[in-house]
Amino acid sequence: MDNFVSVSKLTKRYGDFTAVDNLSFEVKEREVFGFLGPNGAGKSTTLHVICNLTGFDKGEISVGGHDLRRETRIVKSLIGLVPQEIALYPTLSAYENVAFFASLYGLSGRALKSAVLEALEFVGLSDCVKKRAEKMSGGMQRRLNIACGIAHKPKLIVMDEPTVGVDPQSREQIMRSIRKLRENGATIIYTSHYMPEVQEICDRIAIIDGGRLAASGTEEELLKMVTDVKTITIDCPKIDEKIINFIVDLPDVKRVKYQEKLKIEVPLRFTGISTILQALVDNGVPVDNLKTDAPNLETTFLALTGKELR
Ligand SMILES: Nc1ncnc2c1ncn2[C@@H]1O[C@H](COP(=O)(O)OP(=O)(O)O)[C@@H](O)[C@H]1O
Ligand SMILES: [Mg+2]
Repeated sequence: MDNFVSVSKLTKRYGDFTAVDNLSFEVKEREVFGFLGPNGAGKSTTLHVICNLTGFDKGEISVGGHDLRRETRIVKSLIGLVPQEIALYPTLSAYENVAFFASLYGLSGRALKSAVLEALEFVGLSDCVKKRAEKMSGGMQRRLNIACGIAHKPKLIVMDEPTVGVDPQSREQIMRSIRKLRENGATIIYTSHYMPEVQEICDRIAIIDGGRLAASGTEEELLKMVTDVKTITIDCPKIDEKIINFIVDLPDVKRVKYQEKLKIEVPLRFTGISTILQALVDNGVPVDNLKTDAPNLETTFLALTGKELR
């Protein structure tokens, strides 16, 4: 897959304050790229720079092979932004809101009408075409906000925390529509504080903190950066030395400790749990409980940035 977005050594300052500091990352064509970082990390600022809503001090940015500084108009025409703050006209209907934004991208007449209806259907708002934005629930407004950003069928869709404060149903609808957008050929940059979502939907993830890139890669690559082991803990009140030695000698087992509980360190992709359990059962060792502690994005994030996400 080719890169669709390339951000190279981006620096953005507000006065003396550096909000984005020498940040580089690439987004591949037709992927959902997760942009993850605590509040104030510089996510929105980076997205605003890419969308040409604000300038930048240093670096190079290209979208679809076009340089942002030299070919600003082309780059802008390729992008649809779903902003973090809901940006709707409260007294306009759902249809009128989407039509307004789509018309800014040059759509008119019949093409405009069908694009608006398609976008509303896409986010599950076909039944509320005439409903005023101010009469909609928070989740519906979020979905309408998305429809406004995608009606002109941009090649790159930039979503800045599109699921903040939505109900589970709207969240599901939003997740479904993002998958569909990718299937239809769009490239998506997705920002969220909600870790399960990022895990569910993103092909690759960049973790940023203090305006800098802490790490990027697939979920598996990120997990491996912090640790490549998981610990299996088995509650068994007593156990024979020879069974412990048997487990130690199993392929891939890295370390075994016993202190009331049996703790076994194995690689993340270990597949021999049943062999271990079988050995315990065969030797009459009672097993009360078993759990596995594997790193997840949450613990990885903490390890890489020293911060909790929320
Ligand atoms: N217009 C602005 N003027 C001054 N500082 C700003 C402005 N916009 C954002 N910042 C600061 O830049 C940093 C990054 O903000 P932002 O990009 O909104 O972070 P995020 O989206 O990751 O929460 C924050 O410390 C924020 O206070
Ligand atoms: Mg933000």
